[in-house]
Amino acid sequence: MSGIWLAVSLLVLAGAAYWLARRRQQNLALLRNRLVAVTQSVRQTGDNIAHDLRTPLTRLRADVEAALRQEDGKVHRAALERVLDEIQGMQNIINALLALGQAEAGGMRVKKKTVDLTGLLMEMIELYAPSAEERQLTLKGRIDPNLTIEADRQLLARILSNLLDNELKYVPAGGLIMLSAAARGDKLEILVEDNGPGIPEDMRDKIFERFARLDPSRTVSSGAGLGLSLVRAFARVLQGDARVIESSLGGAAFIVTLSTSAADVSRPAP
Ligand SMILES: Nc1ncnc2c1ncn2[C@@H]1O[C@H](COP(=O)(O)OP(=O)(O)OP(=O)(O)O)[C@@H](O)[C@H]1O
Ligand SMILES: [Mg+2]
Repeated sequence: MSGIWLAVSLLVLAGAAYWLARRRQQNLALLRNRLVAVTQSVRQTGDNIAHDLRTPLTRLRADVEAALRQEDGKVHRAALERVLDEIQGMQNIINALLALGQAEAGGMRVKKKTVDLTGLLMEMIELYAPSAEERQLTLKGRIDPNLTIEADRQLLARILSNLLDNELKYVPAGGLIMLSAAARGDKLEILVEDNGPGIPEDMRDKIFERFARLDPSRTVSSGAGLGLSLVRAFARVLQGDARVIESSLGGAAFIVTLSTSAADVSRPAP
């Protein structure tokens, strides 16, 4: 009898050892795949940075060389102004990449305090109204009163300005932009939507990646494709998230959700 028990125990032990070895193997394979994905992403980002900085640098060099061949002060001044623009564009890319790196690595300094979200959203509408009007766009707000949140006001403003900058760039003249916010259950939802061209379903996750653009030829604008990566990274720093769906207005609806566990939301007054 004790022989049978010994055999059963040995079998169980062998089974457990086999199972452990298989788990270890699976974990190692997972780790290896993750490492390959990270390496590929780092390489891809490096390629994108090189590509994105090479174009303005080539333009800069051509401009400076052309200006140097002339003696005219006016030509020099115009060239210097273009050089300044290009430098500004390159600085924007570098600053955005640094902010993204910090946000994703958890190294961003967050100054949390009670923010009057309703007030902030109203301010953003006021700030963007003149540019919207200039582009013949209607900018409307549908914001619940008395929304407050424990968060970093500057980060919230950067999320909103990246989304609103996009609205001004990608919604054609005559279009409608709607900014809304409400408390939903234990979450707070900010919605920036429009009746523009929208985002195709297969691109709705991709456009949040670094340098992703629907129009890689850059005929529509001179953006680098970093704004939405910043929106998602900042939302995550605030323990929330960002995504895009089809808007009931017909275009894109960008939704920023902030959790009440990290962000103390006071509900609208009844
Ligand atoms: N409201 C929108 N409607 C349609 N397409 C949009 C909208 N917002 C963003 N997109 C698309 O998503 C892409 C990514 O946007 P993102 O803000 O990340 O980059 P960008 O605007 O091109 O450049 P950057 O923000 O760095 O200046 C845009 O290039 C555009 O193709
Ligand atoms: Mg943008």
